Amino acid sequence: MWQCPLGLLLLLSLPGHVALGAQQGRGRRELAPGLHLRGIRDAGGRYCQEQDLCCRGRADDCALPYLGAICYCDLFCNRTVSDCCPDFWDFCLGVPPPFPPIQGCMHGGRIYPVLGTYWDNCNRCTCQENRQWQCDQEPCLVDPDMIKAINQGNYGWQAGNHSAFWGMTLDEGIRYRLGTMRPSSSVMNMHEIYTVLNPGEVLPTAFEASEKWPNLIHEPLDQGNCAGSWAFSTAAVASDRVSIHSLGHMTPVLSPQNLLSCDTHQQQGCRGGRLDGAWWFLRRRGVVSDHCYPFSGRERDEAGPAPPCMMHSRAMGRGKRQATAHCPNSHVNNNDIYQVTPVYRLGSNDKEVMKELMENGPVQALMEVHEDFFLYKGGIYSHTPVSLGRPERYRRHGTHSVKITGWGEETLPDGRTLKYWTAANSWGPAWGERGHFRIVRGVNECDIESFVLGVWGRVGMEDMGHH
Ligand SMILES: *[C@@H]1O[C@H](CO)[C@@H](O)[C@H](O)[C@H]1NC(C)=O
Ligand SMILES: *[C@@H]1O[C@H](CO)[C@@H](O)[C@H](O)[C@H]1NC(C)=O
Repeated sequence: MWQCPLGLLLLLSLPGHVALGAQQGRGRRELAPGLHLRGIRDAGGRYCQEQDLCCRGRADDCALPYLGAICYCDLFCNRTVSDCCPDFWDFCLGVPPPFPPIQGCMHGGRIYPVLGTYWDNCNRCTCQENRQWQCDQEPCLVDPDMIKAINQGNYGWQAGNHSAFWGMTLDEGIRYRLGTMRPSSSVMNMHEIYTVLNPGEVLPTAFEASEKWPNLIHEPLDQGNCAGSWAFSTAAVASDRVSIHSLGHMTPVLSPQNLLSCDTHQQQGCRGGRLDGAWWFLRRRGVVSDHCYPFSGRERDEAGPAPPCMMHSRAMGRGKRQATAHCPNSHVNNNDIYQVTPVYRLGSNDKEVMKELMENGPVQALMEVHEDFFLYKGGIYSHTPVSLGRPERYRRHGTHSVKITGWGEETLPDGRTLKYWTAANSWGPAWGERGHFRIVRGVNECDIESFVLGVWGRVGMEDMGHH
C-alpha cells in the first residue's frame, strides 16, 4: 500500500494535475488554512484510495486536488491533522478519522444541515440523518436525457430547455399547462360541414394567415400555469375571426379571463373546460377585450376558489348584447361585447381544413399533448418514441387545444418531404418557434385533425361604420 512519491510525480505531470506543482507544496502547506477545522467536508470521497496513494513521512507532492484546495496522503498530515485527504485515516491507516464527522451533507461546495434541502430540477433533495442526500424521483417536465435523445434522433424537430418549464414535474405540466376536456361523444359526432373543392381546384402548397390578413392575426397568448387552454384557444381564434370578418374595423384581443371566470356552467376555469361550452358562451353572452378584462394568472398549487365573474351583459335586441359592468381594469373604458355566430365542425380531411383556413381564417383544433411536446423548440413536430423504454409515469399525455394558422411543406436533409400545419400555442412567445409550432399534416398526428372548429365573428353593419 505504501508507495514512493516518484509515481506521484508522473501522475502530477499529466494534464489536469499541473496546478499541483511539487515546488509550491512546502511553503504553501504550512501557511494554508486547515481543510478540516470543522471536520471532514467530503465524508464519502475517495481520494487516496482513488489513486492508491499513501506516502511515508513527509511528502509534499503526495497530494491531490480536493474541493478547490489540496489534500495530502502522507503520514505528516496526521500530525497537523487539518490537511489530510478525507479517506487518509481510513484507507492509509485503517483507523477512523480523529474527529467526529460533521453533521450535514455536502452539495456544490457547501455544507447543508440535516433536513436541509436543495432542488435538482423538479426534485427536492433532503439531507438525511445519515448524512446522505435523498432526492425525490419524479419525472421532470424538462428532461435533459429526453432532449438529448430527440436531438440525436432524426425526428424532424429539435428539443430544448424552455426555462419556464424548468423545475416543474411532468405531472404538473400535464395538470397546469393544458386544460381542454375531450368533447362528449354527441359533440364529437357533431355534424361536419363539407366544403366543396371545385373540380380542378388546387390549394397552394403553403399558406399563412398572417400573410393574407396582415395585422389581423394576433400573437400567441400565455396561459401560464392555468389549465385553461379551452378559453385561450377559443379567445385566440375568435379574436382573429372577428378581425377578419369585420375587415379590420374591429381588431380586439378577446379576453380569456372573461371565459375562465364567467363561463362556469360545466366548465372548470383554470382546471379545464370544453370547447363547445366556450363557443356557446361567446355566441350567447359574448366577451369583452383582454384590455378590459385582463388575465389574472394563476400560480400552480393555488387551491383557493376561482375569482368571481366581473363582467355581465344584457340583451339589447336582435341577439346583440351590452355590458352591464365597468371593465375590471379600471383604466379601460371600452367594455364592448364581442360575439360570434354558431360554431361549425370541419371535415377531418386536411383539404377541408385548408380551404376553410384560406377562406375564413384560423381554426381551432383539439390536440393530444405528449411528454415530448413540452420540449419542442423548432421543426416539424411528431410524437417521438424516445420514452417508450421508460416506465409508464414518463409517458404521459393530456388534451389541449390550439389555433391552426397555416400550412406548408419542407424537405428534410435526408430527402423526406414533410407536410405540416403551423399553429399558435398558448405557452407564451418564448416557447417553440416564437410561440408557434409546426406539426405533421395529413396523418391526424396527436389527433390534431380529429376535431377542428370554425366560427364567424358576429359583425353588424353598425360595427363596420365607426372606428
Ligand atoms: C496519528 O496521530 C495520532 C494522534 O496524534 C497518533 O495517536 C497516532 O499514533 C498517529 N499515527 C501514526 C501512524 O503516526
Ligand atoms: C434550463 O433552464 C433553466 C432556467 O433558465 C436553467 O436554470 C437550467 O440550468 C437549464 N437546464 C439545463 C439542463 O440546461
